[in-house]
Amino acid sequence: MVCCICVRVCVCVCVCVCVFNSAHSSIRLVGSGGDCAGRLEVFLNRSWGTVCDDSWDIEDAQVVCRQLQCGVALRADGSAAFGAGEGVIWLNRVKCRGDEIHLWDCSYSLKNHTDCSHKEDAGVTCAGQRIFVRLVDGSSRCAGRVEVLHEGQWGTVCSAGWDMRDAAVVCREVDCGEAVDVLGGAHFGPGSGPIWMDDVDCSGSESTLKNCRSKGWGEHDCEHDEDAGVKCSDSVRLVNGGSRCAGRVEVLHRGQWGTVCGDDWDMRDAAVVCRELGCGEAGAAVRNAHFGPGSGPIWMDEVTCSGSESTLKNCRSEGWGEHNCEHDEDAGVKCSEQS
Ligand SMILES: *[C@@H]1O[C@H](CO)[C@@H](O)[C@H](O)[C@H]1NC(C)=O
Ligand SMILES: *[C@@H]1O[C@H](CO)[C@@H](O)[C@H](O)[C@H]1NC(C)=O
Repeated sequence: MVCCICVRVCVCVCVCVCVFNSAHSSIRLVGSGGDCAGRLEVFLNRSWGTVCDDSWDIEDAQVVCRQLQCGVALRADGSAAFGAGEGVIWLNRVKCRGDEIHLWDCSYSLKNHTDCSHKEDAGVTCAGQRIFVRLVDGSSRCAGRVEVLHEGQWGTVCSAGWDMRDAAVVCREVDCGEAVDVLGGAHFGPGSGPIWMDDVDCSGSESTLKNCRSKGWGEHDCEHDEDAGVKCSDSVRLVNGGSRCAGRVEVLHRGQWGTVCGDDWDMRDAAVVCRELGCGEAGAAVRNAHFGPGSGPIWMDEVTCSGSESTLKNCRSEGWGEHNCEHDEDAGVKCSEQS
């Protein structure tokens, strides 16, 4: 068992010995492009390793999602669904009740599991998303001034050296498809608060802006009138309806466009799509592949929007890719503006 010894200074000096559950960084999800889904990796004995999927189930996934502050678990993934990892397979036969705070509170077998292969690596898909970056003061959710969260405070990014590769990472991180334009000079208005990043230099493949090279946090020689901005393509589109404001509903998830099942599809859901696209009010919510059947994944089923969501992706559904539909049930929308 790995233990960490932490020394705290209060009035006197007290020493507490804790079993590595306080180490926030001791588990992570990799291989999905986001922080809240992926192959589960645990940090032990100074190396990252994986978890074998024997008896891996939704209760175990629930604990992982909770520990990572990623909302509820949608799925316990097995068989290296997010790719095979490397290094030691640290854990196997994890058994959580589901209400534990940390994975370490569950029972498990901890050792160098040479009887399991990386083809059996366990993964998790959580509903939530940890948000580190947002786009502010643009015309849609997918355009605006770039703001990043650091130490609990939102701040801006200096546009010195800001380019399409950096923008691509931001657009992917906010789940908005491709970068369309990079804008400097506080195009979306100047922010306030700290200027967290300067001289950002992403390779383009980072899963988050935070992993790009830059000066240290808060180190900069900028003013807010140099704040960086981004325009990304949208993460929802209407296809085959003769205009961008009518057609089969398609959503972008993990870099792939897919459709929405027409079960329970109604005007409230359509309203969210029309608003998200800047297409006015909903005119009609249609089903049964009115605009022709799509192809590829059916990403959403049993969609239930309250109507106030800023994006279709925030509406309730069965979970990404969870459905009992065929493409001949694909949902469509006609919005009031046919621009
Ligand atoms: C961790 O490393 C130490 C020292 O190398 C070793 O004795 C111990 O068995 C290792 N723990 C596990 C779980 O492999
Ligand atoms: C785990 O076991 C394998 C096979 O016995 C060995 O090659 C490897 O060095 C071990 N790793 C650790 C960290 O103990």
